[in-house]
Parts: sequence; structure tokens; C-alpha cells
Amino acid sequence: MDKKEAKLRIEKLKKEINRHRYLYHVLDKQEISDAALDSLKHELDQLERKFPEFIAPDSPTQRVGGKPLAEFKKIQHKLPMLSLNDVFLFTEMQDWENRNKKLLPKEIKLDYYAELKMDGLAITLVYKQGIFWKGATRGNGKVGEDVTENLKTIEAIPLQVNLADLPSSLQKKAEEELEVRGEVFMKKTDFDKLNEIQKENEQPEFANPRNAAAGSIRQLDSKITASRKLNFMAYGLVTDLGQKTHQEAHEILQKLGFRAGTKLNQYCPDLSAVEQYHNEVSKKRNSLPFWIDGVVVNINDQKTFERLGVVGKAPRGAIAYKYPAEQATTVVEDIQVQVGRTGALTPVAHLRPVRVAGSTVARATLHNEDEIKRLDVRIGDTVIIQKAGDIIPEVVKALSKLRTGQEKKFNMPVQCPICGSKVVRRKGEVAHYCSNKNCFAVQKEKIYHFVSKKAFDIEGLGPKIIDQLLENNLIKDVSDIFGLNTSDLEPLERFAEKSAANIIEAVEKAKKISLARFIYALGIRHVGEETAIDLANHFRTIGRLQKASFDDLNRIYEIGEVVARSISDFFQDKHSLQLLARLLDQGIKIKEPEVRKKTEASGKTFVITGTLPSLSREEAKTKIREAGGKAASSLSLNTDFLVAGDNPGSKYEKAKKLGVKIISEKELLNLLK
Ligand code: IVH
Repeated sequence: MDKKEAKLRIEKLKKEINRHRYLYHVLDKQEISDAALDSLKHELDQLERKFPEFIAPDSPTQRVGGKPLAEFKKIQHKLPMLSLNDVFLFTEMQDWENRNKKLLPKEIKLDYYAELKMDGLAITLVYKQGIFWKGATRGNGKVGEDVTENLKTIEAIPLQVNLADLPSSLQKKAEEELEVRGEVFMKKTDFDKLNEIQKENEQPEFANPRNAAAGSIRQLDSKITASRKLNFMAYGLVTDLGQKTHQEAHEILQKLGFRAGTKLNQYCPDLSAVEQYHNEVSKKRNSLPFWIDGVVVNINDQKTFERLGVVGKAPRGAIAYKYPAEQATTVVEDIQVQVGRTGALTPVAHLRPVRVAGSTVARATLHNEDEIKRLDVRIGDTVIIQKAGDIIPEVVKALSKLRTGQEKKFNMPVQCPICGSKVVRRKGEVAHYCSNKNCFAVQKEKIYHFVSKKAFDIEGLGPKIIDQLLENNLIKDVSDIFGLNTSDLEPLERFAEKSAANIIEAVEKAKKISLARFIYALGIRHVGEETAIDLANHFRTIGRLQKASFDDLNRIYEIGEVVARSISDFFQDKHSLQLLARLLDQGIKIKEPEVRKKTEASGKTFVITGTLPSLSREEAKTKIREAGGKAASSLSLNTDFLVAGDNPGSKYEKAKKLGVKIISEKELLNLLK
């Protein structure tokens, strides 16, 4: 075969193999046997070896996986990858609809597109000139990991999209860049086979298909990914290709060459049709070849969806309508107490291992003493446990009729199981706490938290090493981490020179930290990642946060009384202040949050009252914050503007009295420009 003939044959083979990929993975049709298809692939492979100049990036032979990587690169998502709020009941779906209706003009009628909620992991794919260019995991929603090489091994992901069916004006746009989102998952049969192989190779089995899919995508060696049968379902078209509805987006995805669930998904003119779909899918669920954990319901009209915007990390216009948690029965063999980062004691039921929702469960949380009393659960009891999504399994009910009389009641210990200090239960709280601030376990958990991904993110400094550092008295608290050097680490067990140097380098790098992460890392009770961000945006420096009074904190929109109390207690505690001082002494540099736009609103405090003509309260608050302003809930002498809508209530009069400037939504929007 000469060069010209080879080129032609390669083109033809590529096209034909891709057509079978599309038939199989998108249309669920199989025209030729696997063996015949393999034979075509083999011929293509042979030809490409002979004429490597004709190997194209979208050739089916490029799916085998390349050289192992040293690490994943980070990729910033163009648009954040959000998540969904969950509900389990139809009444909650009705609440969702009513909440949305309130935010929309009366004349808008809501219709929906309902689809399967695949149990895998979210991925985003970017195509340039129609060829698969890069793919990433969700990561923290803003920045994910570049897993392109691994994604290339998944046959259900087209290496080249079909742009020919788009109107010509849109083809150009799509060629420039096309972004598609969806779920990587594993079929039930492929999951079972994988676990069999794991067992044969004396490797640990995967607890559930989601873990298996995630573990396979996060492989530095793409040959391993290629050996695991992963699959893909598209559910989101990020690029605007003229889709007016969510349904149209799915149809376009399908035309582009993705499996987009269009046969199982359904347009629903109203919520009762959604309920019917949810019921029907529930019946089919077990016979589907893959796992689903619910259905996703999107407001079909794209404009309405966008208009509703985002609250927290989830769009208002979509929701996960999940199936109830799966349950199983087992026996409580023991109840033990764990001491957490905040010093709280959590009773944990140690169970006879049992399979629930595709994974083996050996422990379940009992939350606290009141919960144990409410359930009247005893050691030796047969109990019903349940698991919902990612939530830690919990005990739902003790089956008292099955008791033999040998069961033992459990009492909360009066002494901390770790350090022996007195255990206390504060007024108004359900949890018991170890009273010793330096309790070893408490301290340990605090350090784990401090270096964790969302906090200081010190790579390589995992729990095992922290345990060793504590045991060898190399650190007593988190501030000591920054004083470590390689000679401290090298003598430790299993420590090579290189890994010691890597950790010290990671520690050095971590010294520069954003204020939000720093606040989160402090492990203040009730202060999670979101609250830390709010505090950082509000106070902008740690000094200002430290000086804030309970009232200052309580005035902030997002912060309730309990959280405000916890923060002000933290900064009044002598130990916390000493720790802060030590951290700063160690050279920690805290970066102030960026103000994205400098506007007339920057640094100004706004209070909103009444109903605004177009923005919801949340939207107005977000816009204010984005422009560097602060959104407070109550008026004070510090308020710069009261934004008044319809029916403004008593705040209006109060603002007049205080001499606070009163503005309309229109004026607000001008200020934010
Ligand atoms: S839409 C706003 N549709 O569920 C986020 N998500 O709980 C866009 N998922 O992270 C999600 N099937 O990984 C959507 N048909 C589907 C889905 C789906 C599974 C996952 C996805 C997402 C998570 C949200």
C-alpha cells in the first residue's frame, strides 16, 4: 500500500470505527460484533505504525493511555462547576417551585426537564476545532485537575465532535471552543468485574461504583484508567449554541456525539409530570445497567434558569430529587466514643459489617447522647441503618422486639477516653466535650484539619506523619509545623531525604495563605469554608476580625447568633490569641481578599429592605459583595446606604432618623457599576 492509499484507508477506518462508537455508546445499537470491531482497530493500529505521520489526535488508537504523569495539573474552570441541592419528598419539590415563583414575574409559567442523576463523578470537557482538547474534574468547583489523558481512554467520550449538524453560524463558534459537562460512571457489570480482578490481584475492592470511577479517573498512569471500563453521560452544554431550553441542550449534545440520556429523560410540563417521572424511574431503577441516586430536575427555559441565579454553590433552577436512603439491618457489637477536632465526643456504633447501597458498612454515627436515648439503642441490639449519598451511615431504629435481655445500655463517659480529663456538657448544647484544651486527640484532629486541603493544604503532611511528629514531640501545636526542618523529619520511620525536603518545601509554600483559608484553618467551632469566606470578605484582615465584638459579628447577614458567639469566644480565649501570635511569628503571610472591581460601593455597608423590583435579596447581596461592599442585616451608624424596595417597613423610618442615605435598586445598580 502506498502512502496515498494508506492515508485514505486510515481515514475510512477511523470514520467507520467512530461510527460504531457512536452507535454503541450513544444510540445503544450494535451493528457488528466486538471481535469484528477489534479487528478494524487492529488494522488501523498496524497502518498507523507504518505511517505515523497520519496519526491524528482523534484516532481511536489514541485511547490506550500515554506515559504516567508525575502529578495532575490544575485547571481553572471558565464557569464554576456547581452542585445541586437535594430533596427527597414531593412537598419539598413544591416548596422549591414556590420559592422560585416568588422570585419570578407572575406571568412566567414553569416547565421542566427531568433526567437521571448518575452516580459517578462530574467532569468537564473542552473541545477546540472540534477535537477533544482538555478535560478536568470538578475539584473545588473553581479549580479542577487536568485528567485529559485519562478521559481520552473512555470510549463514550468522543475524541472529535460532530459539528456538521449545527447551523453554519454556530459551527464557527463551536469550533473555537466547546465545553460540555457530564458524569463519568461505571456500569454495574463492569464494576463487579473490576472488583473480581481486584480480589484476584489481592488488591482492595472498591466500596461502590462512584469510588471506583473516581479512583480510576484520578490515576496518574492512564494505562490503568484504560483498563477500567469507564463510561460517560453528558448533561450540560456550557457553550451557548442557541439552546433555548435544557431539553434542546440535550438534543444538541446527542447530535454532537455524546450519550445524553435523551431516551430516559423527559420533558415535564409541570411538577406533577415530574412526580410521575420520578415514580416511573424508581420502578426501573434496579434494572438499569448503571446506578442512579435520584433524578435531576431542571427548569427547562434557559433564560428563566439563568435569571434565578445561584445560591451558595447550587443553581436555584435545578434540584436533585433523590430516592430515599437505602437501609439494612445489622447488630451493634459495641458503642465507642470518638473525640473530634472541636473536642466533641461522638458515640459511634461498631456494627457487624453489612452491605448497604453498594458498600460495606461497619460503623454508624449515633450523633450524641440525646440521640442514643431517643433511639434507645443498646449494645447487642439489632438495628436498622441507612445511608444516603455521601452522608455517613446512621442508625435509624433499634428493633427492641428482637432483644434477648443480654443487651447493654451505653453511658457517655465522664472522662475523655483519650486524655482522661473531665467530660462536660455545656448548657443548651447536645454534645459532650473534653474539657482539656490540650487533649491529645483534640490536638491531633486540629492539626489534621489545619493542614487539610481546604485549609493550609500542605501536601504530603498526612495524618500518619502528623502522628509521628506528635509522638516524637517534634510538634505540640500547629504553629510548630512552620519551625520544622529536614533534619527533624529524616530520622523518622520510612522517611527518605527527598520526602523530608518535599514536605519542608510544601510547608514553606503554605506560609502564604488567603485570609479565608486561614480563618477556616483555625478550626473555630461552626466556622466552615463558606463562613470563613464571608468573614474574610467582611473584615479583610485577621486583625479586624480579631477585634470584632459579638455585636459586630452578629450584624453580618450570613452569621447567626450561635456562630457569632463561637467566633467571639474563640478570639477572647487566651490560648487562641497565643496561637495566633505564634503563627504570625513563624512568618505566615495572610493575603487580603481581592476586591474584584473598584466601585463606589467598595468598602460601603448596605442594608436592604422591602421587595426590590428585579433583584432577589440574595442577588443584591452577591452583587454588593462582588463590588467590594458589605451587606448587613440591621441598620446602625455604620450603615452607608439603605436600599429600599416596595413595603420597606420600619427600617425606612429608622434610616431617616440615623441619617442613612436611602437609595432605590436602580441607584444601587449605578453605584455597583
Ligand atoms: S446537573 C449545577 N445533571 O450530581 C450542577 N448533575 O449533586 C450541575 N449528576 O456534581 C449538575 N447526574 O456530578 C446534573 N443528570 C445530571 C446529573 C448530575 C449526576 C451529579 C453531578 C453533580 C452532582 C450534583
